[in-house]
Amino acid sequence: DHRDGEHSFDALLAADERIEPRDQMPDGYRRGLVRQMAQHAHSEIIGMQPEANWITRAPSLRRKAILMAKVQDEAGHGLYLYAAAETLGVSRADLLDQLHAGTQKYSSIFNYPTLTWADVGAIGWLVDGAAITNQVPLCRCSYGPYARAMVRICKEESFHQRQGFDLLLTLTRGTPRQREMSQDAVDRWWYPSLAMFGPPDGRSTHGEQSARWGIKRFSNDELRQRFVDMTVPQAAVLGVTIPDPQLRWNPERGHHDFTEPDYDELFRVISGAGPCNRQRMEHRRRAHDEGAWVREAALAYAARQSETAVS
Ligand code: ACO
Repeated sequence: DHRDGEHSFDALLAADERIEPRDQMPDGYRRGLVRQMAQHAHSEIIGMQPEANWITRAPSLRRKAILMAKVQDEAGHGLYLYAAAETLGVSRADLLDQLHAGTQKYSSIFNYPTLTWADVGAIGWLVDGAAITNQVPLCRCSYGPYARAMVRICKEESFHQRQGFDLLLTLTRGTPRQREMSQDAVDRWWYPSLAMFGPPDGRSTHGEQSARWGIKRFSNDELRQRFVDMTVPQAAVLGVTIPDPQLRWNPERGHHDFTEPDYDELFRVISGAGPCNRQRMEHRRRAHDEGAWVREAALAYAARQSETAVS
């Protein structure tokens, strides 16, 4: 059994089997996973804010119900991911403290504002589309609890992507003003969505090591290319223009050529200088503080339950 013995970690990786919480693993692997999974969980939780901004203004009861369900799904994704990270010996409370202290990151994309109702569609179509492209391969991540959490998350993300597409399709088939609003949203969300995949491979800090450890199955640039190729035909169905005059099919490469996002902007946004960073963090800290009584009540209830169980 290759789970025994000194080289079990390498043997498991070589056999493309999952690493489980009790398996021995290098410190760097554990740290890398905690970093990526915490950042992923934080993104889900912070990602509730830009869309929640539109719940009270959704144009119909049906759209409101869909949007509320979607935002609740994001909370659920955050919780699965925190729970998966806890199998590596960290606590959710500690990870949240690090988010609030700014020592752990969340995705750059959630630092952009949602200016119109069409932004809710553009987020579903482009941001969730990018998220699925990045996350489907994570279902085969070498760490078992992360890979398994991703299976359900991806099913829900693909529903989110479709609702965004459907919302935009409704708008682009609507009035000229609605079509204009959709194009404006796509113009603003396109490059930030491309930047979600991270810096280009040459500037990626963790890319190579994460690939060797089976944490990442494809590089940032490979996934970005895959997203562009998937999205171009969908834009044609929607009747919106992708705001990139250089975008064209390259038959030699069998892929679309496209303009890269501005990576200096990505690094500025990551380091806190995006349009909404301050607002997102203030809102998150306030929600955490205001939720203190819920955590206290839950702990008191759990303590009472275990006392009753003993007596
Ligand atoms: N937003 C914020 N930070 C980013 C982003 C981004 N879009 N892209 C890269 N970074 C950070 C990395 O975290 C890293 O910083 P760190 O060392 O302080 O952690 C630095 O920029 C350099 O990037 P890489 O070395 O390429 O980072 P990595 O190998 O982790 O790749 C990626 C980044 C692709 C985002 C990877 O972490 C990943 O696949 N994560 C899981 C998916 C995820 O988190 N999605 C969140 C958004 S989707 C959603 O929630 C709806």
